[in-house]
Amino acid sequence: MAFPSPPSWNRQDKPFVELIGTEALQTRIAELGAEIARDYAEYGDELILLGVLKGSVIFLADLARYIPLPLSLDFIGIASYGDETQSTGVVKITQDLTRPIEHKHVIVVEDIVDTGLTVHYLMNNLATRHPASLKLCSLLHKPSRTLRDEVTIDYLGFTVPNKFVVGFGLDVAQKYRNLPYIGYVPGE
Ligand code: IMP
Ligand code: MG
Repeated sequence: MAFPSPPSWNRQDKPFVELIGTEALQTRIAELGAEIARDYAEYGDELILLGVLKGSVIFLADLARYIPLPLSLDFIGIASYGDETQSTGVVKITQDLTRPIEHKHVIVVEDIVDTGLTVHYLMNNLATRHPASLKLCSLLHKPSRTLRDEVTIDYLGFTVPNKFVVGFGLDVAQKYRNLPYIGYVPGE
């Protein structure tokens, strides 16, 4: 089934500018899936893809189907404390995992690492739960904004410029997560 291709599905006012198209996304996600499948071939039974709600869900759904291993899925919901538009690094868990991750191989799946503050907090928190291993997979990275040098993205889809990006899970005020491509907000 083909998704409606851009630019037919866009907003009227200040339309988003396409940055990464549907096909490029699928090609790269298939590559990431193959890489993960190779790396975890022996640990498929103990592998958990841990999606960070809500931005990662579209990416996670596709990624999981490119990994032919008997993995499991879980989710964690987080919210930044304080300023709504600026990441503070002080994070609150709004929805915790459904199962312990002790002795499991965990890959955290994120939509984007921007300042890196959210993921830095999250990885530290998860490490205290003693997984067998803990890695990070992010669809996007905005290196110009990353403040935390110690954030390592083990599996990265694309590097993006310092623009506000939307679609494929990423929102503008909770909307447009369902765009089948990554666009950016013009003028920002
Ligand atoms: P960080 O703590 O600055 O790395 O922020 C990470 C979170 O902010 C991501 O998981 C996204 O939910 C959100 N975010 C950062 N940049 C963007 C963007 O360009 N578009 C949409 N959401 C973003
Ligand atoms: Mg997020």
